Amino acid sequence: MDLFEYQARDLFAKHDVPVLAGEVIDTPEAAREVTERLGGRAVVKAQVKVGGRGKAGGVKLAADPADAVEKAGAILGMDIKGHTVHKVMLAQTADIAEEYYVSFLLDRTNRTFLAMASVEGGVDIEEVAATKPEALARIAVDAIDGVTEEKAREIVEAAAFPAEVKDQIVAALQKLWDVFIKEDALLVEVNPLVKTGEGRIIALDGKVSLDANAEFRQADHAALEDKAAANPLEAAAKAKGLNYVKLEGEVGIIGNGAGLVMSTLDVVAYAGEKHAGVKPANFLDIGGGASAEVMANGLEIILGDPEVKSVFVNVFGGITACDAVANGIVQALELLKSKGEDVSKPLVVRLDGNNAELGRKILTDANHPLVEQVDTMDGAADRAAELAAK
Ligand SMILES: Nc1ncnc2c1ncn2[C@@H]1O[C@H](COP(=O)(O)OP(=O)(O)OP(=O)(O)O)[C@@H](O)[C@H]1O
Ligand SMILES: [Mg+2]
Repeated sequence: MDLFEYQARDLFAKHDVPVLAGEVIDTPEAAREVTERLGGRAVVKAQVKVGGRGKAGGVKLAADPADAVEKAGAILGMDIKGHTVHKVMLAQTADIAEEYYVSFLLDRTNRTFLAMASVEGGVDIEEVAATKPEALARIAVDAIDGVTEEKAREIVEAAAFPAEVKDQIVAALQKLWDVFIKEDALLVEVNPLVKTGEGRIIALDGKVSLDANAEFRQADHAALEDKAAANPLEAAAKAKGLNYVKLEGEVGIIGNGAGLVMSTLDVVAYAGEKHAGVKPANFLDIGGGASAEVMANGLEIILGDPEVKSVFVNVFGGITACDAVANGIVQALELLKSKGEDVSKPLVVRLDGNNAELGRKILTDANHPLVEQVDTMDGAADRAAELAAK
């Protein structure tokens, strides 16, 4: 889960990373009082979960409270790369002497954590990384050892931070590492980390992404979710404990096992090229143990997507055998009907693997008017795409 800048700032403050005071508002008028509280001047910052806000005109300096009202009015409602600005943060202004960059992230390729740091931070860091990679130090961080003072010094030396700020940055890096580990983050980025005219180090902008897999031990994180922005189908699926991602397409997909579902998306997209360009409508992995209830929950979400025109149920029987899945499908359709759900979209089912014969027989005997069986994955994808294109 990506956080807004103000939420990242709050987490930084919680772990003693130096930040400036700031408050979030959602109406221009509110800017007056907040700016007065902040000392009469403020930086008005769009709160959107996308980079490059400054360059898009989403970060503006306000010289006084009236100016802050005007700037907040201009930024609220602005569209930044497809994200509408619903909130702005008013932050104390910093007297910036230098802008640096630091981050911690998961380095999947090298199976470790990675620290990155540069003395050339600020809004052009992407360009620095692309054209002057040597200006961006990359230091591996061991997951067990973490960022000790020694490791923080190694990062500081590698990035060649000026002598007078080294100690402060060493301290800040260790605190940012606390944020990374204690909050179960996948990314903690500060750009810019600034040196002020007085020589103080402050995190002026933060990007934090939290690991959803750690939700069970991070009770506070649920409150950080942007409920207004969540897709209603995804929210409903999440409430049912389903592994569902909404996509833009017409063929609903249900499968068992993430790998199988991903390849199902591929074959459906490929088949769709021959059928009016239809595409997969979602990712849904019902995992092992596809009980009637899980199948019914999955079907309910997918059939509830108005874009869906047909459904492809692709199952490779393993520990959960195909006969159990077939019974699950039959019972799920009955369950949905008894709940008064609109079950009127065609289902193409492909069963293979453990007890496939028995599973197919169960579906044949049930003789449901909306269920069609195709024995191969490619054939079933083609049929589901064809039905969706009708
Ligand atoms: N509180 C502040 N005081 C003074 N200047 C600021 C303050 N916050 C931001 N700035 C200036 O505005 C620039 C852009 O701000 P910021 O880094 O928050 O947004 P951004 O980098 O454009 O957004 P993103 O990181 O999402 O791409 C900073 O590099 C800094 O020069
Ligand atoms: Mg920034």
